[in-house]
Amino acid sequence: MSLYYLFIFILLVSEISCRGFQIENRERQLFLSRNVVTESGEFDGGVLVDINGKIEGVLTRESIIELLSNDEASLEVIDGGNWALMAGGVDSHVHVNEPGRTTWEGYVTATRAAAAGGFTTIVDMPLNSVPPTTTMENFKIKTSSAREEAYVDVAFWGGIVPGNEVELKNLINAGVVGFKGFLIDSGVSEFPNVDTNDLDKIFTTLNGTNTVLAFHAEYPISNGSQCEGCDSTDPFLYNTYLASRPPEMELGAVSLLAKYIAKYDVHVHVVHVSAADVIPLLEQAREQRIQSGSTRWRGGVTAETCGHYLTLSSEQIPPGHSEFKCSPPIRSITNKLKLWEYIRDRRLDLVASDHSPTVADKKTSNFMSAWGGISSVQFGLSLFWTEAKARGFSLSALSHYLSSGPAHLVGLGNQKGALKAGYDADLVFFDPDASFVVTPDIIVYKNKISPYMYRVLNGKVMQTFLRGQLIYSDGEVLETPKGQLLVNAF
Ligand SMILES: *[C@@H]1O[C@H](CO)[C@@H](O)[C@H](O)[C@H]1NC(C)=O
Ligand SMILES: *[C@@H]1O[C@H](CO)[C@@H](O)[C@H](O)[C@H]1NC(C)=O
Ligand SMILES: [Zn+2]
Repeated sequence: MSLYYLFIFILLVSEISCRGFQIENRERQLFLSRNVVTESGEFDGGVLVDINGKIEGVLTRESIIELLSNDEASLEVIDGGNWALMAGGVDSHVHVNEPGRTTWEGYVTATRAAAAGGFTTIVDMPLNSVPPTTTMENFKIKTSSAREEAYVDVAFWGGIVPGNEVELKNLINAGVVGFKGFLIDSGVSEFPNVDTNDLDKIFTTLNGTNTVLAFHAEYPISNGSQCEGCDSTDPFLYNTYLASRPPEMELGAVSLLAKYIAKYDVHVHVVHVSAADVIPLLEQAREQRIQSGSTRWRGGVTAETCGHYLTLSSEQIPPGHSEFKCSPPIRSITNKLKLWEYIRDRRLDLVASDHSPTVADKKTSNFMSAWGGISSVQFGLSLFWTEAKARGFSLSALSHYLSSGPAHLVGLGNQKGALKAGYDADLVFFDPDASFVVTPDIIVYKNKISPYMYRVLNGKVMQTFLRGQLIYSDGEVLETPKGQLLVNAF
């Protein structure tokens, strides 16, 4: 062993042992696949990983043959054969709920479900845990409950609520990826929404910083005249709920945000877009930003949609099945098809799960009073691929929307979400031709509720690796947590 490697090894060992994990004697690794998938294409080759779990190179089959003939010593070869080899998924929108609502979800179950779903990084939302991530003190409570329980890497969103602008700079220094706020009631009393008065203070505080300000973009409107399916007031029918949250609520919120986008230099991100007409509005705001010289990624104006808006439509939701309830609501099939057009044309930036679980008691058959939230952190890759494959998309689109896009959003674009030298070797072997049925016994997250129950999904995660270490294989999540919290020392 050269001195250089000895030095790196000592660094690695000291890092691992101070985290209390088992010390592993690692070798360089070579991951092979007939179908290596990057954002720009697919090819026969592999990924070379150094002893620190970083990608050393992405190689064609020819250079691998050459490498193996010269340098076979201490190289662990992991051959996935025909399985696609891709960057691990990054889910930028997950509600873990611990501490405080740990019966809804917790770090162990959420991160194990992520690992099983091929996601190597999740980003926790600031609300639904108690306390919410709106102050430094709360952030410390949050991270200490997550610390020993992460099976994948975990980063954190902070929250904006009325009056907490004094906390924001400290939270940025502590490593939150950005902030999320509501323009409408959030559903939990400890996380009140902000109004325009608060927004002025928040945007002023964050103006010119590199953080991200993300919004649940629905704005209350006083009349229901423009609703989809106003014909019913039966709370057991989905249309009743749908009518209560028309697209105008999303459009109204985005129009409001556009005014701030024009005035301030802050990255604004719209989470979980349901109404497709939001996208052209955001594009106008982005265009103005770019015209006025913004050099931010995507002009600092971005949007995500979720697996459920791309998979489900209102017409198919049966009476009393509130496992389909989320907000903004799942809309018509026409709307879903429009979202897919925007996906095809790369007019959306990323796809996230908005994994927002609760206990069965809160998922009653009354659509108006049931908890709004869909659990799917485990199924993002297969949900997207099921629809994308049917539309003739390539696996590169999957990698673009579920790895690279979300990694960029949360400031991890030079560390995660792509197969590139120097990046973390977060990898997934994915069989694009396999399919499986969603059943309660394969669900790893805590409350086994799903609008996809007993559906067939196409594309199956076979193995997941975090920094080169196997964390999921063949239906089993490995027992030792190997995830890290992506925060700064504080
Ligand atoms: C925000 O900051 C930019 C410079 O980064 C400045 O041009 C602009 O006037 C500021 N906006 C407000 C409303 O203060
Ligand atoms: C109801 O709201 C819509 C959308 O915000 C608006 O265009 C319309 O004029 C309103 N109708 C009434 C009767 O207030
Ligand atoms: Zn959410």
